[in-house]
Amino acid sequence: MGSLPDTTVWDALPDASSSSFIVTQPTNKERLHVWTMTHPKWGAALTLDNYLGREAYLQTVPLAKEGGLTQWILTDGSMRPDERPILSSCESLKKGAIAALSSSSSSEPKEVVVVDGIAHGIASVFTEPQFRGKGYASRMMREVGKALERWQTVTSLPDQRALFSVLYSDIGKSFYAKNGWAPFPSAHVSFSPASGAAAADTGKKLAKPIGYHELAELCNADEARLREEIKEAVVISGGKKSAAAILPSLEQLLWHMMREDYMTKHIFGRTPSVRGAVYGEEKGKRMWAIWSRGYYGGLETIKGNTFHILRFVVEDNHAEQSELVDGFRSIIQLARSEAAEWRSEDIQMWNPGPLARGLIEASGVQHRIVEREEDSIPSLMWYGEGQLDEWVANEKYAWC
Ligand SMILES: CC(C)(COP(=O)(O)OP(=O)(O)OC[C@H]1O[C@@H](n2cnc3c(N)ncnc32)[C@H](O)[C@@H]1OP(=O)(O)O)[C@@H](O)C(=O)NCCC(=O)NCCS
Repeated sequence: MGSLPDTTVWDALPDASSSSFIVTQPTNKERLHVWTMTHPKWGAALTLDNYLGREAYLQTVPLAKEGGLTQWILTDGSMRPDERPILSSCESLKKGAIAALSSSSSSEPKEVVVVDGIAHGIASVFTEPQFRGKGYASRMMREVGKALERWQTVTSLPDQRALFSVLYSDIGKSFYAKNGWAPFPSAHVSFSPASGAAAADTGKKLAKPIGYHELAELCNADEARLREEIKEAVVISGGKKSAAAILPSLEQLLWHMMREDYMTKHIFGRTPSVRGAVYGEEKGKRMWAIWSRGYYGGLETIKGNTFHILRFVVEDNHAEQSELVDGFRSIIQLARSEAAEWRSEDIQMWNPGPLARGLIEASGVQHRIVEREEDSIPSLMWYGEGQLDEWVANEKYAWC
């Protein structure tokens, strides 16, 4: 299926600096070939057919549809499409992003502005085994990193400029850093699934399940808060640092959930209805977590099946501490129970901020703090001046 000629076209593999190499988009046949090759690495929980089906389906979901997803290949530009070898491949996903920057004038006090733009999330970097170790992925990444600064941007529209690109390295911190993506904090708090962990209804206020239909309002409220938060991060530094974030938009969250739906439908024969939990009802005073389930192990082994807290939000940081702790405990209890029902090995909450860390400690819920050194290392290439100092809301929702 989707097989292409490979090394037989050359007596010896060309050097990665070859001037005939280009990065471009694959044809349909080449795309199928790439997916077929990546199935053993990323599709172990699905049959090949179901994996190919998922990859095709994932081109049609929010964020990816209508050209949001781009596939990239490194190949030989002197050869014909469908007859050229695919030396390395990856994909990029266009996302909404914001950055808080201080005016570059030397006048005091500096003005801090929040600008809208694009972030590209890069994923599925892959070189077929027979092409590895020749520098092909490095060449592709350097070219794709440069190309993404202009890709899908509209020069006449300031909010369509590319602010940065991100990726999540599963091969440690040095390979992508060498090619221009700096590693950012990569810790998570791990909780264990526990069936029946959801608190019984004792008359006490409890977190309520979040369904699809509630996400839009929560995402809008979150986005407004995040704009304030990144501005604050720069103001507090006296305008000395820059801060940026990927927007936790409805599209961004639906991308995770529709992927999750495909996986759960094929693994369990059904899809989940509980997408998170919210504590409190009054707008401006709520706390919530939105989650999704990821499967690499399927049902045979739960190893690699992870229940991810995509995003954790506290609307009112100044609420009573005991109320915040009760809310957090109730949310995490529901998450633990859902995670057990959906055969997850682990619950992960990525890079919780100081407030969330305080709640985790105070809640008394058993947990482990894990500093990842190899897997899912958030890494960022900044397209603005200088470098990015702070990636705000560096949580799982931004992953792809
Ligand atoms: C990672 C991968 C894309 C590299 O492709 P490649 O064309 O061989 O890459 P290059 O020849 O440009 O560079 C190879 C470098 O990657 C490093 N590398 C490859 N696999 C690695 C791993 N698992 N852990 C750490 N480093 C790794 C090599 O050590 C080498 O480092 P060096 O430049 O310091 O010598 C390829 O090995 C692959 O497809 N692996 C399976 C899929 C995968 O893990 N993708 C990465 C997802 S983040």
